Formats: sequence, C-alpha cells, structure tokens
Amino acid sequence: MKIFKTLREFNDFRVSINKEDIGFVPTMGNLHKGHISLIEHSFLNNSITVVSIFVNPTQFGPNEDFAIYPRTLYKDCEEIHGLEMKLQRKDPEKEIIVFSPDSMNDVYPEGFSTKIIVSGVTDKLCGVKRPNHFEGVTIVVYKLFSLVNPKIAYFGKKDYQQFIVIKKMVRDLSLPVEIESCPIIRAEDGLALSSRNQYLTPPEREKALILPKTINASNYLFSKNSLKVALEKFNSLKADVMSKGKWEYLEVYDAESLEPVTEKTISFLIAGAYQSTAARLIDNTVVKNNYV
Ligand code: PAF
Repeated sequence: MKIFKTLREFNDFRVSINKEDIGFVPTMGNLHKGHISLIEHSFLNNSITVVSIFVNPTQFGPNEDFAIYPRTLYKDCEEIHGLEMKLQRKDPEKEIIVFSPDSMNDVYPEGFSTKIIVSGVTDKLCGVKRPNHFEGVTIVVYKLFSLVNPKIAYFGKKDYQQFIVIKKMVRDLSLPVEIESCPIIRAEDGLALSSRNQYLTPPEREKALILPKTINASNYLFSKNSLKVALEKFNSLKADVMSKGKWEYLEVYDAESLEPVTEKTISFLIAGAYQSTAARLIDNTVVKNNYV
C-alpha cells in the first residue's frame, strides 16, 4: 500500500499511472466499517482505489469539533493495508493508495478564497444549522476530484444530503466523474456507524437509539400508507419523539431533488438529526412511493 503525504508526491504518482479506472473514497479518517465497505466496493470495481484522509477544517463550524476530531492515521493505514492484503489474494494486480496531505497549505494555499455554492439542496436539513458546512465539503471534494481524477467516487448514504450536493455539483459543473452511493452500515444496536459515535457514553448511546428507531418506524409508515395518511402519522410520530429528546430536525423530502414531497414523488427521503449531549447524530432512510 502506497501512502502519499504531499501534493507533489501524489501528483507525480498520479501522472505516472495511465490507468483509467480509478475509484476514489474521500474520508476524514478514523475509519470504521462504513468506510471499509466503500473501499472494498471500490477495490472490487476498479484497478486502483485512492483513499484520501484529510480532516477538512472548512466544513466545521466555529463551535464544532474540528480540534478534537479523532485523527488516527497510523491505525487507519494499518486497517487499509490489512484489507488490501486480504483483497489482493483474489485480485493481486489491484491496489489501494492512501493520499493524506499533512500540510494544510497543500490543500488551502495562503489566500485561498474560492467557493462552490450549490444552492437549493444545501439550504435545508443539515444546511440550516451548519450554514457553511456544504461549502467546505464541495470545495475540498472538488479539489480532491481534480487531483485524483477518478472515474468514480464513492460516498456513504449516511450523509445522504452530502451525496445529493456532490451529485448536483458534478452535474452542474459537468465534472468527468461518476458518483455512487453505498448503503448505511449500522452497529448491532441499530445506530448508523459514525466517527462521532465514540463521543457517546453508554447511557447517551442508549438514548440516541431513538434516532434509528424513529427512522425505521417512519420507513414503515411511508411504505405502507398513501402519502396523505403517511404524513399524518409521521407528523404525530414527530411531535411525540421531539417532545422526548433534542432533535435538530426530522423531515421528509423528495429523495432525488430534496424538494417537498407530492403524490408523484418517486421516493421519499426521511432524514433526522439528533443532538445528544456529546455528539450530533444524523440518520436517514429512502422509501419508494408504492402509490405512484
Ligand atoms: O464525508 C466525509 O467524510 C467528508 O465530508 C468528506 C467527503 C471526506 C469531505 O471532507
């Protein structure tokens, strides 16, 4: 497994390979089974998989956890190396490359002032409480896309809104990359895997299970009822759970456009953000409209 820590080294490597099928998994490190499933999926479908590990400051708000975000590069690389060795038993010619720029200046040179604003899809759900978050995500992902030049990039569905924002950026700017989303990976208790879950104490985690349980119950409501009935039941579920915990939002949108739902919506996104004492957790589900 090769690791590149500077832009120059990575660029030299990138121009030296003429392979076209490069899969890309952008991450902020502290890898869990959700990330590993993306890397594995990329490995199976491409000759080279590039995994970036970079804790991106521009996507954190001023009072968020940038300073304490878990940075575990050594352990992450060990994990990727183990995965590569396992997967290479079947596909010895394929490889995984880690790109982890260790100088902030490599990603954000002094005076950096470029922004990419994907309006509409960023002004709801997480975009309301985290107003500059998606600008931070789009600029770093754009920059990584231009450095890695992948054929396909993989994103986890847990950050569903992020996936839609990136897809829209790629479409609007005609970027030559395909965007694929991979399923949410859950712990045994149902909580969607996230690097931030480790901030929770066991009692906080127990309480936070209201998030996946509510998402699961909502999935049932929208798959078994017409939109009108589902919305009535969902609104009463929402009022009930919101009275019991600190929720940032629990909403339903059109899963493709993030516009409000109508009878003609093909599939519904039900997304929630729950504020636990130590961490803000998000979760979602997409349900096909069985009544169109
Ligand atoms: O999903 C993440 O981990 C980050 O938002 C990403 C896509 C790596 C950009 O920093």
